[in-house]
Order: sequence, then C-alpha cells, then structure tokens
Amino acid sequence: MLGSGRLDGRTAVITGGCSGIGLATVRRFAAEGAHVVIGDLDDGCGPGIAGEVDGAYVHCDVTDAAEVEELFATAHDRYGSVDIAFNNAGISPPDDASILDTGIEAWRRVQEVNLTSVYLCCKAVLPYMREQQRGSIINTASFVAVMGAATSQISYSASKGGVLAMSRELGVQFAREGIRVNALCPGPVNTPLLRELFATDPDRAARRLVHIPLGRFAEPEEIASAVLFLASDDSSFITASQFLVDGGICGAYVTPL
Ligand SMILES: NC(=O)c1ccc[n+]([C@@H]2O[C@H](COP(=O)([O-])OP(=O)(O)OC[C@H]3O[C@@H](n4cnc5c(N)ncnc54)[C@H](O)[C@@H]3O)[C@@H](O)[C@H]2O)c1
Repeated sequence: MLGSGRLDGRTAVITGGCSGIGLATVRRFAAEGAHVVIGDLDDGCGPGIAGEVDGAYVHCDVTDAAEVEELFATAHDRYGSVDIAFNNAGISPPDDASILDTGIEAWRRVQEVNLTSVYLCCKAVLPYMREQQRGSIINTASFVAVMGAATSQISYSASKGGVLAMSRELGVQFAREGIRVNALCPGPVNTPLLRELFATDPDRAARRLVHIPLGRFAEPEEIASAVLFLASDDSSFITASQFLVDGGICGAYVTPL
C-alpha cells in the first residue's frame, strides 16, 4: 500500500509485530514513512519482516524489564528518537477461561504478558518522550475492557481493563508534556489468536458474531488504520481515550438479523 507520508521521519516501536494486528501495523507504519522497530519473540519471522520494511527486529520478551529497555534503547540509538510506541503484544491462551476453571498459573501468565508488559513498555519509553516533549503511546486493550462476556476469559478481560485504566491515567499525567496515551480497544479481529481460539469451537465463534452490528470480524488492516490515526498528528487532540474499533459492538443492544 502506498502511504501519504503521515509518519515521515518518525520512529515507531511495535511489540507483537510479527503477527496479526502488530504485523499489519508494521506494514502500514512503514508505508507511511516511519522507521519501524519490532519487538517480538518470533525470531523465525522477525528479521524477515524487519527486512521487508527496511526496519529493525529486536528479540524481546515483553515481560522482561531488561529486554524491554533494550528494545527502546535500540530504537533510540539507531534512529535518534522514539516517537511512537505501539504496545500491542498479548496472548489469549485456552487455559484462561471461566474463573471456575482458571488456575492461578494461567491467571498470572496472562497478567504478565498482557498487563505488566504494558507497564514495562510505558516505563521504558516515557523518558525518551519526555526528553523530546513529544510522543504517542498506543496500548492495545480490547472491547472486553468495557463489556462482559458469558464466554469468559477471566484473566484476559481483567488484564485489558488494567491496560485501559493505566492508559487513561498516563494520558492525563503526561498530557502537558506533549505525550498522548490512548487505549486501543479492538473488537474481534481475524488473526491467528482468534482463529486458534475458535478452530475447535465454531459454535463459540457464531455466538460472538451475532453481537456485531457489522456482522463480521475486523481484518487486521482495519485495526492498523486506527493505530495509524492515533499515532499520527491527525489525532492531536485525542488522549486518555478508550478508542473503540469494534464494528459497533459496544453501541449495540439489538443487532440486525
Ligand atoms: N485478535 C483479536 O480478536 C483481538 C481483539 C482485541 C484485542 N486484541 C489484542 O491485540 C493484540 C494483538 O493480538 P493479535 O490478535 O494480533 O495476536 P497474534 O497472536 O496474531 O500476535 C501476537 C504477537 O505477539 C507476540 N508475543 C506473544 N507473547 C509475547 C511476549 N511475551 N513478548 C513479545 N512478543 C510476544 C507473538 O509472537 C505474536 O507475534 C493483543 O494484545 C490482543 O490481546 C486482539
């Protein structure tokens, strides 16, 4: 896709950039002129994707404070600034389900990867952005941060609620230093994470589709368009927001047949 230079000269760090929403955003940001630095665990795909967009890949487990610091330091050393942080890596494992069946280990793993990681990434990038007096942080939450599901993934939903509250608070705290912080809240997206979850259970997928006014899951590229908006100066008056990209789910009571 040819871009129009909306991120010309900006440096963007994207966690979870090897798949799904992160990968679509890597490609979109690069098409808009950004230097992209991917932080992910997927050493098989990472270097190739970075090569494709003329960016960089850093092996980074987002639950590890030292590796997260190294990720942002690499971006800063290589390109001289860190203008955008898309803190997006997350998991949705099958052993995180109803509270009745979810053990403490599954609970903790999901909290670490989905919530503690966002704390670590924000903590690592904020000093660079404060120095620059400029930056846009986009943290991936989910529509389940604001709506409950009977098809529960208890730790996942709680982690995303935490991401939403943390993003709001950071957005307020750093607003006058030129740093915007928003929580991206996607509805269900057609990615490996969701496909894996529903592969064994089509009934569960159908049960979810019925609640989406647009009648389908999002494509990752549609979420990447929203991330681009939040990353670019087009959203210069938007901070501390819960930015829903959900096909109308959260606005719906009765959906079309
Ligand atoms: N897919 C959906 O329907 C949906 C909906 C709402 C929110 N989300 C959120 O969007 C984000 C991206 O989801 P996706 O569907 O694109 O997922 P995905 O599984 O396609 O990609 C996730 C990426 O994160 C990486 N990752 C996993 N654990 C990591 C770790 N510890 N350190 C570094 N990287 C790690 C994986 O290697 C992978 O490249 C997640 O935070 C997810 O919770 C997804």
